[in-house]
Amino acid sequence: MEWTRAKRYQAYSNWTAAELLSLQQQVATSDYLPHYHVSPLSGLLNDPNGFSFFNNQWHLFYQAFPFGAVHGLKSWFHLVSDDLVHWKQQGLALKPDTIYDSHGAYSGSAHVIKDKLFIMYTGNVRDKDWQRHPYQNGAWLDKNNRLTKLQRPLFDQPEHTTDHFRDPQLLYLNNTYYALLGAQDKETLSGKIALFCSKNLHDWQDLGYLDFTNNDMGYMVECPNLVLVDNKPLLIFCPQGLNKKIMNYDNIYPNVFIIGDTLNLAGASFTSRQAAPLNFDEGFDVYATQAFNAPDGNAYAVSWVGLPDISYPTDQENWAHCLSQVKELRIKDGCLYQRPVPAMAQLRTAGKHLTPGNNKISEKNCLIDHPSQHFELKLTIPAGQAGTLHLAADKLLTHSLALEFSTSKKAFLSVDRQNAGAPFAKKYGTKRSVKLPADTSLVLDIFFDNSICEIFVNNGSHVLTLRLFPSKKQQKIILESSQFIDYNGTWWNLKPIN
Ligand code: FRU
Repeated sequence: MEWTRAKRYQAYSNWTAAELLSLQQQVATSDYLPHYHVSPLSGLLNDPNGFSFFNNQWHLFYQAFPFGAVHGLKSWFHLVSDDLVHWKQQGLALKPDTIYDSHGAYSGSAHVIKDKLFIMYTGNVRDKDWQRHPYQNGAWLDKNNRLTKLQRPLFDQPEHTTDHFRDPQLLYLNNTYYALLGAQDKETLSGKIALFCSKNLHDWQDLGYLDFTNNDMGYMVECPNLVLVDNKPLLIFCPQGLNKKIMNYDNIYPNVFIIGDTLNLAGASFTSRQAAPLNFDEGFDVYATQAFNAPDGNAYAVSWVGLPDISYPTDQENWAHCLSQVKELRIKDGCLYQRPVPAMAQLRTAGKHLTPGNNKISEKNCLIDHPSQHFELKLTIPAGQAGTLHLAADKLLTHSLALEFSTSKKAFLSVDRQNAGAPFAKKYGTKRSVKLPADTSLVLDIFFDNSICEIFVNNGSHVLTLRLFPSKKQQKIILESSQFIDYNGTWWNLKPIN
């Protein structure tokens, strides 16, 4: 089918139930579906939205276009969980069905107020000349999951931005509501974070742009997100068109963070000792990460594993993208750590201990043959070793996801997906690398789920997330080295969440 604009933006009611069912049936047969990551029943999934804890449950929404693997008329799909791992689908919650969100219920956040969850989101509206009019809208979700939209928008686009003004994050600090928004400055056409405040959610005051960097942040900032992590403000955002001299990145658009020193939202100021932003994830496919401060005292983050403006192999199967697993954030000695949440361990079954024992092996050592393609692999490699860990490998190693490492003086880990399966996004390179501390053991905690892999390095001091689309012949885990190699670890099969 040709995805004309008219098709992408036609009302949901123009699609028949039979069409949707047939799409869902097609998607259900895909070889690439993850088992313990959230993926769409059909169509396209993008940004996580409204991540919150309400009514004794975790709530998470995502941007959804259910009718194909394209960016069309967006709504919010709702999920709930008791443990941040097992997600139950609740269906479409926020639909583009008013004059203030007619062309998409775009990204936003959620905040518990008294006995309801307040949702703040961008209503994307296009006029007959296809001019964009963004509205910042509100809705209440009650304890019975009933959603009621506010009659009128909370505020419109200010004079000083273009129509690229969206993705509000609602925060409550010092008896004041603040909204951080992604924006493009009208005069300079540069990316900014806009800041608004309100005492009552009705009357909003424009505080201008958040002063958080002296660097130019490209032509647009999407999905700004502020959380407190171990008493430090952490700013996560997506600068589009960022000059690579400011910060090196390979993905089409980076998702970055800055650890702050001081935060004064009333004065629109966020100061930091960090010279430039850093990649939130050092792999290939993370974007639009949303984090929030939960009542249990932790900061949790979840990312879209997919990127704008890139085709993925499952587009042909009428579905695209998934969410990352939830990551708990920590800041230690000025560095950001991301860790799997404890409940991930509940998915483990049938563990297998891996060690070369006294007979250290060399060359190609098959650690696991014909494993399930849904597993966790925890491996410690002592200092002074070098080799390549191949995941999703075939017999002759013609195809694999290749994790090359050295734990010697010039220690590093690189991940190469060049021969990992169906090709995509090659224009943006097939390899990502991180430097590691010299002469120190390397701890890998790898989560593999059919077509997504999340690699937590040294207790989350780096995370590399990626999609890959291997063939059915790629079922081995092989450790390759030209020297004797020592290691110690465990492989677990992981259960599906549904
Ligand atoms: C980021 C984004 C947001 C927007 C949403 C629309 O991926 O472009 O800026 O609100 O996706 O789906």
